[in-house]
Amino acid sequence: MNEKEMIEEIQRLKKEKNAVILAHNYQIPEVQDIADLVGDSLKLSQEASKTEADVVVFAGVHFMAESAKILSPDKKVLLPVYDAGCPMADMVDAESLRIFKKEYPDIAIVCYVNSSAEVKAESDICCTSSNALKIVKSLKKDKILFVPDQNLGSYIKEQVPEKEIILWEGYCITHHRVKSIEVSAARKGHPDALVLAHPECTKAVVEKADFVGSTAQIIEYAKQSAHKKFIIGTEMGVLHQLRKDNPDKKFYLISPALTCYNMKKTSLEDIYNALKSEQYEIKVEEEIRERAFFSLDQMLKTN
Ligand code: 13P
Ligand code: SF4
Repeated sequence: MNEKEMIEEIQRLKKEKNAVILAHNYQIPEVQDIADLVGDSLKLSQEASKTEADVVVFAGVHFMAESAKILSPDKKVLLPVYDAGCPMADMVDAESLRIFKKEYPDIAIVCYVNSSAEVKAESDICCTSSNALKIVKSLKKDKILFVPDQNLGSYIKEQVPEKEIILWEGYCITHHRVKSIEVSAARKGHPDALVLAHPECTKAVVEKADFVGSTAQIIEYAKQSAHKKFIIGTEMGVLHQLRKDNPDKKFYLISPALTCYNMKKTSLEDIYNALKSEQYEIKVEEEIRERAFFSLDQMLKTN
């Protein structure tokens, strides 16, 4: 089957099974182009919570498909590549949180959506990179444990000095390796460009950025801006949408290291196989799902 035939088959299977394809902004261009919706974690979870499809094919990483299942338990949620995971999500576990809660019973736990269902179940509320500040500010408790991303957590902590925020020591292996010296070098190479960075980058990088936001916020900022050149501090997958939206603007990646290996695992063929064989189905134990739902739902209600 050539690519054109495969795209036609995907469209046919989608209709036959009343399926929807959701894709994250970091997916490869061919996958983004076949998706019904491409977005950041927040937009994708909002869509997952209200879709009328029977089958959701989630082109992203495991925690994203799992969040869709938590929000829409009656749907069949498929992750096309069974081992497409997020290493940061594996940097915190539910048992550690239970131990922490025993020691600090009055603390509120805010968990970044890049986390497992079990971790969400132990948390008070979830957040994404686009709403983390709003979520933290909305909490009545003044003492907060933020898991698992120390970089997003530290970015929020600086903006909410009135709260005591304890940071977990997790990080995104992709964003964390961008160095501040690479931002300086990129600025030197393109002095008239604006730097747009994701809050998963380190403090040293974020401090040098002109704008900090989620993948969707970065895409929107570049679209609205009168500027013509941008240095991008997030995973290279966003370049596809940025260039599609702004053919007259120039985009440069801060570092060639900004590639998330897991986000790049899903091919068009994987989407086709997922639809054809209804694989790999995401399952979440009901007791965990209900408690994880609470944290995600709190976020969606606060947003
Ligand atoms: P966004 O919510 O900004 O799309 O980020 C998800 C993610 O995994 C970033 O690395
Ligand atoms: Fe996880 Fe980082 Fe990849 Fe996002 S870019 S999915 S946080 S490893």
